[in-house]
Amino acid sequence: MGQQKFQGKKICVVTGTSSGLGLKTTKALLKTGFYHVIGAVRDMEKMAVVAEEEGFGSDENFTPMQLDLASFASVRQFVDKLNEFKADKPLDRLVCNAAVYQPSLNEAQWSEDGIEQQMQINFLSHFLLTSLLLPEMTKEKGSVDPRVIMVGSVTGNDNTVGGGGVYPIADLRDLEGLAEGAKAPIAMMDGRNFNGAKAYKDSKLAIMMTTNLLHDKYAKSTGIAFSSMYPGCIAASPLFREKKPWFRKLFPVFMRYITGGYVGEEEAGQRLFQVITDPRCTRSGVYWSWNGGPREGRGVEAVKNGGKIVGAGGEGGGWDTIFENEQSDKVRDTEKAQLLFKYATQITKAEWPLAKGAVSPCPTLRVIGAITAILDKQEELQRKTKRAQPKTMGEVLERLAF
Ligand SMILES: NC(=O)c1ccc[n+]([C@@H]2O[C@H](COP(=O)([O-])OP(=O)(O)OC[C@H]3O[C@@H](n4cnc5c(N)ncnc54)[C@H](OP(=O)(O)O)[C@@H]3O)[C@@H](O)[C@H]2O)c1
Repeated sequence: MGQQKFQGKKICVVTGTSSGLGLKTTKALLKTGFYHVIGAVRDMEKMAVVAEEEGFGSDENFTPMQLDLASFASVRQFVDKLNEFKADKPLDRLVCNAAVYQPSLNEAQWSEDGIEQQMQINFLSHFLLTSLLLPEMTKEKGSVDPRVIMVGSVTGNDNTVGGGGVYPIADLRDLEGLAEGAKAPIAMMDGRNFNGAKAYKDSKLAIMMTTNLLHDKYAKSTGIAFSSMYPGCIAASPLFREKKPWFRKLFPVFMRYITGGYVGEEEAGQRLFQVITDPRCTRSGVYWSWNGGPREGRGVEAVKNGGKIVGAGGEGGGWDTIFENEQSDKVRDTEKAQLLFKYATQITKAEWPLAKGAVSPCPTLRVIGAITAILDKQEELQRKTKRAQPKTMGEVLERLAF
């Protein structure tokens, strides 16, 4: 029934489709006619207006659905509603895109669950959402090319100028805040005092570490490709709405002509669209980026070129400049990622499926495995019953025989 309703189209959930990157990506997906996009948004009215403006208000392949990532209850309600809506059809793509950036706050703002907003909206709620939707995306469920994509950031990856050269640096330390439950007044994952910019960067580091862990745990057995991506600096996006007006005016100019890292919303949308659709991006455990490498042609040269600087992760890096970017030691810290996974599971009450190893398709091995399982069960039953003490030397020797 689900297959008919969606006419064989892939189902793609994108969080935060009401502005910026999520909106432009959705537009690109709808244009193909191959996807049914579920726009997971906190403000349904805003979504309706924006969809109308962008021309997909009446597109039957777009379904807005309420999701407030500042509430774990809302995440669960969203999953129930989605499952009811798509019925037996598998979920093909989950794109964790929505985020807030609150660098100017002196005090933390708290979610409905009493958690610092950036930590919950950007990381913990996406963590919970992914756990609940994973069973809907497996090969067993019928998904052919399932992908979970986390929108990361250069700011969470401290082996770059953007991530490691601009204070504050993302660092989860020993996850002291998460270990203690991360409820107010604990505002940071490392348990130290609140810093708005760091809370954002930490949330991006956490989601990128989680992507790698999910890859290790589930990619082989489920067939899902887990990846993160950096869309470039979308300096004119509403993400910077909480910055001062002068900053919002000058930042895009600075990024375009000085650092060369500027990317327009449309182009950033094409990048995320590529990770969702390009067959190259079925590879799991990758952090996708574009047009990195040396930053040449800045300043006057850039002005002459309308700000298009090749090689800065910025504008103009087209489809074929995609590459598998290096991840910092912090992002690749598997021991810390395990702990992060444990604490985030406790806080969100995430429900992860058991991580099964790959099973050999060899028929002989399967038969042997089944017989061994029966023998093992019998042996375990015998071990449970108390054995009588040996009475004769013969019995003692029999026990010792091996
Ligand atoms: N802009 C950049 O330079 C840049 C660089 C690297 C990575 N990124 C990442 O790119 C992604 C998109 O950012 P953007 O630049 O497109 O910013 P944006 O235009 O502000 O988009 C953020 C989206 O998240 C939604 N959102 C915020 N709080 C939410 C909540 N509680 N529940 C559900 N949705 C919520 C927003 O909804 P409303 O429309 O209701 O506000 C909006 O749709 C983010 O993950 C960001 O970290 C951005």
